[in-house]
Amino acid sequence: MVPQNLILKQMEIGPLANYLYFLGDAQTKEIAVIDPAWDVDFLCSEAEKENYKITSIFLTHGHPDHVNGLEEMLSRHDVPVYISKHEADFYKPQHKNMVEVENHAKLKIGNIAFECILTPGHTPGCQCFKHENILIAGDAVFIDGCGRCDLPGGDAKIMYDTLYNIIMKLPDETVIYPGHNYGPKPSATIGEQKKTNPYFTCQSKEEFLQHRMGIAL
Ligand SMILES: [Fe+2]
Repeated sequence: MVPQNLILKQMEIGPLANYLYFLGDAQTKEIAVIDPAWDVDFLCSEAEKENYKITSIFLTHGHPDHVNGLEEMLSRHDVPVYISKHEADFYKPQHKNMVEVENHAKLKIGNIAFECILTPGHTPGCQCFKHENILIAGDAVFIDGCGRCDLPGGDAKIMYDTLYNIIMKLPDETVIYPGHNYGPKPSATIGEQKKTNPYFTCQSKEEFLQHRMGIAL
């Protein structure tokens, strides 16, 4: 259930089945674009159609498939861009509007606050954005999957800690909104994922590492 005051629009865009999001305050119609990539024309026209005002950009991480529309978006909307301070330097886009945030920083869109939660493993500075039971998860976790850990800056041991000590400790009713459409449905609760996500059901860190590094997702 999406909280009444929240704007949450999920859009699948680009050749890698990226999920981009509008997240915002339904009362003020202010939104953040999560991971502007692939088709900025589409994003801007969708926002205009709904009369949304883009007031910020949140980045889940710095991989090109999540940020390749950033510059163009900024040329149309001169707004702050929030990225984790812990993201690898080689993944951080260079722009005067970049703002680096700490783990647990609170970001506001209109009157709604979102918590940044550092969830490394896929990259050093992957972060999720949480408001009540909504978790925008980027590439930390997919429905019935999780982000790959074999790219520069990735680390499967750290991913294990992210999944088992951070994400799975959130309330079971938390709804995961992933960074790609790689699963059987667009979103699912953590409680559901504890039953169906093979990365959530490992008996040990070793089992997880074998499973994660043995499969190239
Ligand atoms: Fe990624």
